[in-house]
Parts: sequence; structure tokens; C-alpha cells
Amino acid sequence: MEDLLKIRNLKLYYRTRRGIVRAVDNVNFDLHRGETLAIVGESGCGKSSTAIAIVRILPRNIDTYEGEIILDGVDIMKMDDERFREEVAWRRISMVFQGAMNALNPVIKIGFQVAEPLIVHGKLSRGEAFDKARELLSLVGLPSFLAERYPHELSGGMKQRVIIAMALALNPEVVILDEPTSALDVITQANIMNLLKRLKREEGLSYIFITHDLALASELADTIIVMYGGKIVEYGTAEQVYLDPKHPYSQKLLASIPTLRTDKKLEFIPCAPPFLVAPPPGCRFHPRCLYAMPVCREKEPIIREIEKDRYVACWLYGG
Ligand SMILES: Nc1ncnc2c1ncn2[C@@H]1O[C@H](COP(=O)(O)OP(=O)(O)OP(=O)(O)O)[C@@H](O)[C@H]1O
Ligand code: SF4
Ligand SMILES: [Mg+2]
Repeated sequence: MEDLLKIRNLKLYYRTRRGIVRAVDNVNFDLHRGETLAIVGESGCGKSSTAIAIVRILPRNIDTYEGEIILDGVDIMKMDDERFREEVAWRRISMVFQGAMNALNPVIKIGFQVAEPLIVHGKLSRGEAFDKARELLSLVGLPSFLAERYPHELSGGMKQRVIIAMALALNPEVVILDEPTSALDVITQANIMNLLKRLKREEGLSYIFITHDLALASELADTIIVMYGGKIVEYGTAEQVYLDPKHPYSQKLLASIPTLRTDKKLEFIPCAPPFLVAPPPGCRFHPRCLYAMPVCREKEPIIREIEKDRYVACWLYGG
């Protein structure tokens, strides 16, 4: 498959009173055209930070923001903010932010909220943008008359569809979806997953799908990345990672997912995720790992290909 987005040595560190938080610490991956890549991991492992680093919507307290983000052969990290806003943001890469459905403006009609990116970035007039917004609502399976309604008149699932419609407004090639279903009940979650699958098929979209749920990731994704403590610890096809995880952390993540009609005892991962101001030396997972060896406490394992297109960062596989 053709490479669409290449992320190389991406770092995003935050400045805080307690020190520097290394939220994204040398992350590398490729997204192919038409592919869905899922980023999975516990709360605080750097999933959203990776996403905001790609769309360049950053908080003020940034300490380090570096690396290469190569979109169709062009390093968009080298673009100044104005060019990035003009050429990339929303038009080529858009994002559904975590919790965005709760951030819809309560006093503005849905149609005008969907129309906003079309006015600001697409340079359409208000009237043209409102008409296009009605089309976008139909695209995400909502009746176009909802354009005239206010957010409080919509259910959670409808609001999430509105947010997805906004992300699709300027026909982007890459859509980043940050936990798009985690605030929804299971039926609504399934409906949104079906919508995403349909849009992927019909619109040829490439997704970066962020979730803490490995099972959900395996439903939509072609490729899964497992992040731990700001780093990628495993990377492979969805089948490989979901059916046969190799990294001890991915194995624990999978064992902690409830499944129907099995007697499987749910496992939990002991202790807390690492404090990213002073992460543990060596392998960041070592304080929680059942297989930790002396080398794990001293030297950081390098991510390496252990079989074709299968990458793991763990000393059990030769580090
Ligand atoms: N603006 C910020 N300033 C300081 N630290 C931050 C900031 N934003 C995030 N962090 C910290 O960076 C780390 C990664 O956070 P991030 O939000 O990327 O994790 P996440 O994987 O998306 O978690 P969740 O599953 O809870 O959404 C965490 O330790 C978090 O506390
Ligand atoms: S490198 Fe060592 S501590 Fe880290 S996951 Fe592998 S075995 Fe466990
Ligand atoms: Mg997040």
C-alpha cells in the first residue's frame, strides 16, 4: 500500500511545575492510504498527545516539539503555522477531538457549527456552507433538518455524528479519531463504528483511531500500535496484535478485556502507569512486568522487527 503519512522521531514534551513531561518520546510509524491504524494504551500513555502533535493544535506549555511528519512526501513539520493552517489543517488532516461532542456550542444551531470549518478554512459564504453542512449531516446518517436544531435536542450518538461530519467537511485524506465512542452506550458505540467502517469504504479515508480498548481497535483497524509511557512498544497487523500479542504489556492489556460467555478471569495490570516526568530507567514497563530481567532495569529495549512487519520493544525478543 502507498505511504500517506510517515511519522519519524516525533517528540512532544510539556513543561510543568514538577518537571518535563515526555508525553510523546520518539514515536515512529507509517500510515498507508486507505488504512486504519489504531493507537492503543492506558490513560496517560500519550495517545492524544501524539494526535495533537500531528494536527499541531498544541497547548502553551510545550517544551519540545520535534521530528518529521511526512505527508505524501512533504515534511509538514517544516511548514510555518500559516501555511500549515492554509494547506494541511482540516483540508488534508482533520481530527475528532476526545470529548468534542460535549463541547458543541449550546446556543448555535448544528448547521452553523458544521458550517464553521467550511467558512473559516474552505472560504465558503455562510449560505453555501450551511447548504453543504446539510449534505454532510446526510453523509453521516443524520436527517438534514437537524441543521436547524440546537445541541441539547440531539442524543449523544447524534452529537458524535455531527462532530464526525465537521471533521469530514473539507474532504481530508487522514482523519484522526480520538476515543470517538468511549462516552457512548454499547449500541450507539456499535452504530458509530459501523458509520466509520462505511465512511472508510465509501470515502476512501485513512484513519488514525485512538482508543484504550484493544478489542474495539481490532474491529476497525488494519494495523495496531500499542503505546506505553510515551513510547511505542508493539506494532503489527490488527490480527497479530489482537490474537497473539508479543509484548508483556500488550498481553496484559488484552487479558484485562472482558469477553462474553467465557470463564476467563479478568486480569489487571499491577501498579500505576509511569510518571512521565521521571520514567523508570531501562524498559519503562519493568516495575510492572512479570518477566523483568536485570537488563530491563538498566537498558532501554530498542523496537525491532521480530517477524515480517511485526515490531516489539522488549528484551525477551533480543531488545
Ligand atoms: N498540557 C499538558 N501539560 C502537561 N502535561 C500534559 C498535558 N497534556 C497531557 N499531559 C500529560 O501527558 C501525558 C500523556 O497525556 P495524553 O493526554 O496524551 O494521554 P492519553 O493516552 O491520551 O490518555 P487518555 O487515555 O486518558 O486520554 C500524561 O501524563 C498527561 O498527564
Ligand atoms: S523489556 Fe523486560 S521489563 Fe520490559 S516488557 Fe520486556 S521483559 Fe518486561
Ligand atoms: Mg487522550
